[in-house]
Amino acid sequence: MLFRQFFDSESSTYSYLLAGDSGHEALLIDPVIDKVDMYLKLVEELDVRLVRAIDTHTHADHITGLGKLREKTGCITVMGEQTEADCVSETIREGEHIRLDGIDLEALYTPGHTDESYSFLLHSERPAVFTGDVLLIRGSGRTDFQGGDAGQSYDSITKKLFTLPDSTLVYPAHDYNGWTRSSVAEEKAHNPRLAGKSRAEYIDIMNNLDLPDPKMMDVAVPANLGCGLAADV
Ligand SMILES: [Fe+2]
Repeated sequence: MLFRQFFDSESSTYSYLLAGDSGHEALLIDPVIDKVDMYLKLVEELDVRLVRAIDTHTHADHITGLGKLREKTGCITVMGEQTEADCVSETIREGEHIRLDGIDLEALYTPGHTDESYSFLLHSERPAVFTGDVLLIRGSGRTDFQGGDAGQSYDSITKKLFTLPDSTLVYPAHDYNGWTRSSVAEEKAHNPRLAGKSRAEYIDIMNNLDLPDPKMMDVAVPANLGCGLAADV
């Protein structure tokens, strides 16, 4: 299997390319519009074929690459069924699988950061979960806009993500400190918002973060509801 992690330094976003071996089908998770040419160059160099582009949720801090990738490659764009983004070609729901050559990705509905956030569990010899912004490395995504809910975030993390095997690797959609991956065991033990914290304590922490709006929020959310294409206008 081919696996690549990309970093967008403007928004501290991680995007992921997964593919079977050369000549096989590929997918991208949480692509950023400014990096589309780079993804496509690598896709060509690795001799794989991009067939799906997935957003874990409607991002507020960068413009999605979904629309541009679909325009350039004809790939199918995917988000969870609760999304309001109008140009998604395929929606997915809890427990459904995306299966490509050599790739099996299961959708887990994990609301909390937004009410349409999904995580994607890669079934493989070394399972991995792409958590979007619901679970970050030693943190978690804010819950104060876009239908966010701190209690739902706690439940998604503790009842769904933390019930995966401890060795499951954790790949978030962002990191602001330089961490590149974690594991379920590490986050259970060391995530300061969750380790040893009750649901009420977590809600209290999340409701008192007092964060400013993301600098691109006013641009990114409306653009991303149109799969990022409004950004070209
Ligand atoms: Fe987000």
